[in-house]
Amino acid sequence: MAIRNIIKEGDPVLNKVCRPVEKFDGRLAQLIDDMAETMREANGVGLAAPQVGILRRVVVIDVGDDHGLIELVNPEFVEQSGEQECTEGCLSSPGQYGITKRPAKVKVRAFNRRGEVVEVEGEGLLATACCHEIDHLNGILFKSHVIRMLDPKELDGE
Ligand code: NI
Repeated sequence: MAIRNIIKEGDPVLNKVCRPVEKFDGRLAQLIDDMAETMREANGVGLAAPQVGILRRVVVIDVGDDHGLIELVNPEFVEQSGEQECTEGCLSSPGQYGITKRPAKVKVRAFNRRGEVVEVEGEGLLATACCHEIDHLNGILFKSHVIRMLDPKELDGE
């Protein structure tokens, strides 16, 4: 596994629509392992492949609950319901946080690294993470969902 460089906001790579994964091979497994390691090293709860410069539809999420590491290849929403406000940031926009409005519950269908169909249902932070990361695959950053950016002074412990 290897830590990859996280691309920062302002780089046009982050505004591109990613292509679906077609080959479930060793290279995909390596990418997913590297993304998981990169996310953890940066203390993030999610990371999308374009953030490491790969324009493919791959996401990793770990919100610290009993799902553990979630890997989503070619993810699609099958359900979204309700609404919640969240405090959201992004590893590509270090130190910047905002209040966003997102669905309260989501259900996502995707493939794992072996090409098997997986379904993830989440609410709260997991729902937000799914929405945030899948947005990245469509070139959308969290700021387009922000109602209000937070002043750094409003953040606890920062
Ligand atoms: Ni992000």
